[in-house]
Amino acid sequence: MAVKGEAGPVTASCLLLLVALLARRSLAAELTWDANGYVLYCPCMGRFGNQADHFLGSLAFAKMLNRTLAVPPWIVYRHHTPPFTNVHVPYSEFFQLEALSFYHRVVSLEDFMEKLAPENWPSGQRNAYCFETAAQRSPDRKSCPMKDGNPFGPFWDYVGVEFEKSVLFGGISFGPYHQPQWMKRFPPSEHPVLALPGAPAQFPVLEEHVGLQRYVVWSHKMAKEGEEQIAALLTRPYVGIHLRIGVDWQNACKMLKSDDTGPHFMASPQCVGYNRQTATPLTVTMCLPDLAEIRRALKLWVKKTSARSVFIATDSESHSGEIQKLFKDKVKVVSLPSNSAQMDLYILGRADHFIGNCVSSFSAFVKRERDVHGLPSSFFGMDTPGKVNRRVEL
Ligand SMILES: *[C@@H]1O[C@H](CO)[C@@H](O)[C@H](O)[C@H]1NC(C)=O
Repeated sequence: MAVKGEAGPVTASCLLLLVALLARRSLAAELTWDANGYVLYCPCMGRFGNQADHFLGSLAFAKMLNRTLAVPPWIVYRHHTPPFTNVHVPYSEFFQLEALSFYHRVVSLEDFMEKLAPENWPSGQRNAYCFETAAQRSPDRKSCPMKDGNPFGPFWDYVGVEFEKSVLFGGISFGPYHQPQWMKRFPPSEHPVLALPGAPAQFPVLEEHVGLQRYVVWSHKMAKEGEEQIAALLTRPYVGIHLRIGVDWQNACKMLKSDDTGPHFMASPQCVGYNRQTATPLTVTMCLPDLAEIRRALKLWVKKTSARSVFIATDSESHSGEIQKLFKDKVKVVSLPSNSAQMDLYILGRADHFIGNCVSSFSAFVKRERDVHGLPSSFFGMDTPGKVNRRVEL
């Protein structure tokens, strides 16, 4: 079973390596101005998981308008460790930019600014585009709040952009229904660069965009380091778990106790189902598993997969002591220091089984990636996601 789990991703990544090498060539050669225009946005809502959800929707939006997507860096919040400010990590540090081009034309925002903007989008001609409702928040009520506050200001400063003029719109959404209006209202000849204060996408990611995860492929550096970590720390088969249990999350999950939340809360459509009518109820345990549930789920999946080690990714406590006690010395329990979110994601993605948090977009990233590779996942409070919905549809 472990062999089967490994064969898929390895074959796939060999193929992608080859394809990426070919694409890199064309991408480098292709840095000429796209007459069909560009989409720029700030991934200004939430941490990595939310930014990834928004990224998939933005990719689809750029394709819908047939504009090149200027892929933004990831915003990493470092308020408790040096340098105590936001760090902007180029997309390609973590993932292959080239792999995206199998879906649609992309350029990194950094390359866009360095190689294309000076000539084709010079300062003095840089307009901001936003909803009228967003402009309402600005002092003059007609300027897009592009650089107001954190992370907005630091982001566009990192990119090196000051905005000249604001172009407002309303009565239009980012979905396919409004595609003709976008084309009519903002033809690329007059509006070559649509620079937006936030992602032109919904959170959580729409069901029809979940599959775009297949174009988000780990960089060779990340994959190499990840495989080294797995080889050094873990013995297969291993179960990976994501514990989203910190204080901010405890507070968020308290909202579930009020009646008006319903089954859809943050990333929960991934496990309760996207259809509100047929969605299974979202329980507090699914949002915030207690130690009893963590023990129960782990015991079940460690037994089912004959796991020899457990990998814990956590936003606060790892409970590794309690978990180690649960399995005596039959199973090795491992977690990494807390500053390596992407390494956590990589290792969770490659586990023989993954137990995630249904409400968490960080877990959702792992779940989507594992689905792409046909690897099994479950959630705390839900051992067999997907089954319930299928039954309802029949
Ligand atoms: C989309 O844009 C590309 C690049 O600018 C262009 O070659 C292609 O013809 C466009 N497709 C459509 C349907 O307009």
